[in-house]
Amino acid sequence: MSDDILIARPGGRLQGSLTVPGDKSISHRSVMLGALAEGVTEVRDCLMGEDVRATMGAFRAMGVRIEELEDGRLLRVHGVGLKGLRAPAEVLDCGNSGTSMRLLCGIVAGAGLPAVLSGDDSLRRRPMRRVTEPLALMGARIDTAEQGTPPLRIHGARALHGVDYVLPVASAQVKSALLLAGLFAEGETCVTEPAVTRDHSERMLRGFGVEVRQSGAKVCIKGGQTLHANRIVVPADISSAAFFLVGAALHGRERLTVRAVGVNPTRTGVLDILRLMGAQLTLDNPREIGGEPVADITVHPAELHGAEIPPELVPLAIDEFPALFVAAACARGRTVVTGAEELRHKESDRIKTMARGLRTLGVTVETLPDGMVIDGRPGLGGGAIEAHGDHRIAMAFAMASLRAEADITLRGASAIATSFPDFVTLARTAGLRI
Ligand code: S3P
Repeated sequence: MSDDILIARPGGRLQGSLTVPGDKSISHRSVMLGALAEGVTEVRDCLMGEDVRATMGAFRAMGVRIEELEDGRLLRVHGVGLKGLRAPAEVLDCGNSGTSMRLLCGIVAGAGLPAVLSGDDSLRRRPMRRVTEPLALMGARIDTAEQGTPPLRIHGARALHGVDYVLPVASAQVKSALLLAGLFAEGETCVTEPAVTRDHSERMLRGFGVEVRQSGAKVCIKGGQTLHANRIVVPADISSAAFFLVGAALHGRERLTVRAVGVNPTRTGVLDILRLMGAQLTLDNPREIGGEPVADITVHPAELHGAEIPPELVPLAIDEFPALFVAAACARGRTVVTGAEELRHKESDRIKTMARGLRTLGVTVETLPDGMVIDGRPGLGGGAIEAHGDHRIAMAFAMASLRAEADITLRGASAIATSFPDFVTLARTAGLRI
């Protein structure tokens, strides 16, 4: 069978305990900051998915040596400092990865290097003006395609200056791109966000010895600061754990533990939302790994019910909605999600692709411009689902098989490798019938 098609059969059950791979956001940033630091940074448990490999490839193309040791469990990034990157000879291929493209855009523009950034069909449809426009205010010159989409052509030899910018949309990628550009800029760069988004860049910059000033929703960085090489351990990705947490919660009769998961409060919206829907979750063994809080998360038997999701939780769970929509489809009663327009700009339009898939399984769904209304039902049907090159759509519908009455065929499942290369093996071990 082709790697691109998976069949998830009914009758699976999730139980036991498992560990999911390293956090994608933190892994990207480890490579990036390691490359910009003075000295050799060691990164343990970095996610070796296609997205992070795209980031690694881009830095290698700009002259950074990255060693992969212990079967990839340890990376050694030979930092070149803020002035050491070379202009790449080829197009920087970001693959499917919005984080690679947006953060790299800030770094490459900041370094004043001429470069072209492109990616796959999905990435070439995603909005990039949200990062090129504020970078232009800082003095960069970046061309996009007509719709404000990739490829991005960055003109070199431009010195940037700091700005005080208010983000029109809550986006950690844009915030991070501007802070990273700000490292190279003259003066201070400040970014104010309309809602709290993940703060991994701020935490990790501090870990590399950079002073980052935070006051309320505003975060500022002064240009010209040296990054000092660091040792990083990447916690397990709560966004990957979410599929298993939801799978166990919607099955409702088993206990499942996901170990050593990053529980940074800017990422735990999925836990709050599952609790609002009646899930019983406990966090044990809380500890800190590399400046990030970590805990073992256990799902206990409980039945899910629908809920109105408070919009302020949306940015804190933005990547978990594909899984949460499946939970809602199996919950008693109605779930309403609003304030989630950003879902339309992810690896696919996640409101559209999830609604289509859920309808295929017999669920009654109403789409809204910024969300979805889902009427849960006791059992799901089967059918063929198109993932549209979106890893999280494929993994969410794999979990739907736990409540399905017939096979679910997932087309476009190879996208799973962007964030979770061992998903199928782990899911089988935990009890899914894929
Ligand atoms: C990410 C930020 C979020 C998230 C993405 C990773 C990051 O995107 O959806 O998967 O690592 O900064 P936005 O900044 O577009 O919300």
